[in-house]
Amino acid sequence: DRYCVIMCGGVGSRFWPYSRADKPKQFIDFLGTGQSLLQLTVERLKGVVPEENLILLTNEQYASLIKEQLPQVKDAQILLEPARRNTAPCNAWAAYHIHALNPKAKIMVAPSDHLILRREDFRHSVLKAFDFIERNDVLLTFGVKPNRPETGYGYIQVGEAIDADFSHVKTFTEKPNLELAKVFLESGEFFWNSGMFFWKSESIIKAIGTYAPEVAACFEAAREAMGTPEEQACIDANYPSCPNISIDYAVMEKAPNVCVERVDFGWTDLGTWGALYDVSPKTRDGNVTQNSKTMLFDSHDNVIAVKGDKLVVASGLNDYIVADADDALLIVPRSEEQKIRNYVNEVKMTF
Ligand code: GDD
Ligand code: MG
Repeated sequence: DRYCVIMCGGVGSRFWPYSRADKPKQFIDFLGTGQSLLQLTVERLKGVVPEENLILLTNEQYASLIKEQLPQVKDAQILLEPARRNTAPCNAWAAYHIHALNPKAKIMVAPSDHLILRREDFRHSVLKAFDFIERNDVLLTFGVKPNRPETGYGYIQVGEAIDADFSHVKTFTEKPNLELAKVFLESGEFFWNSGMFFWKSESIIKAIGTYAPEVAACFEAAREAMGTPEEQACIDANYPSCPNISIDYAVMEKAPNVCVERVDFGWTDLGTWGALYDVSPKTRDGNVTQNSKTMLFDSHDNVIAVKGDKLVVASGLNDYIVADADDALLIVPRSEEQKIRNYVNEVKMTF
């Protein structure tokens, strides 16, 4: 009864110019491992969720990228969203779809752009999570111990302990401002939301119906068609009228039955160039580059990403991101990386 929903429809604009609207970061081999982040995500679930129970949700634009990168995945396992509506509609569709296939389904939700260093610890936590939701009608999150006042994450305030690993959740706050994030960090009561979730199909359908009725309405209209040949046509008709909202704002901030499992498996959301910098091996001067022809003089703490084997020479360059794609070059101080999204939107490039 174990399923995993892999969300792979985001655009990853803070990773421009490598991440592009026509090939976002989850489809790119960011770490030089020979596998895209999506392929790594599928790989690490082997033996935990049956391969035929992986359900991938993405924008219809990326259907061919998925088939190319995951030839073992059947068409029926790929759900193609006709519009960009963020992760609440994505998770609602996944839950209704899977519930029609198996009303006893236990669902893990996994983003497709994370890095996990300790795979065995990860698998251990996942198995415990499946076991927990089997016994409890809850929405379960994975809580990661925070080490900086990151504003790009959700924050989980831990409530009453259930056992050594699991607790009730008092509050869930998605993407607080910096001031609030600092308070959360200092209080010691908060964990980062890893963006992975576990729930029974019936638990999340109930929660969406209660806390996001406008989202639920789109899928109630398509309920009869779920799992039938009419499903896609029915979704194409209803999905675009869904509100554009993430599951964190739509449900996690509101539901009372949220629980958290404390986890520690070397988790990073590869959301920005800085995150890639943090997890990459560095030269003695703290530079990160995968290009063997990069020659840096008097330069420290840069991330230099260049496609192919172009010769790069730099001198006196410190704390910068230099990212050279075929048709676009980005040069931005590392401290300004959150603004890349705005720059990309501002110049309205084809991106
Ligand atoms: N199918 C589909 N459709 N996938 C989507 C869509 C969509 O419309 N939008 C985003 N995704 C995918 C992204 O590709 C990514 O894998 C995942 O859903 C999460 O989306 P992000 O846009 O990366 O979310 P976030 O990082 O800002 O925030 C979430 O993750 C954080 C941890 O990484 C939240 O859950 C936070 O609370 C959490 O801390
Ligand atoms: Mg993310």
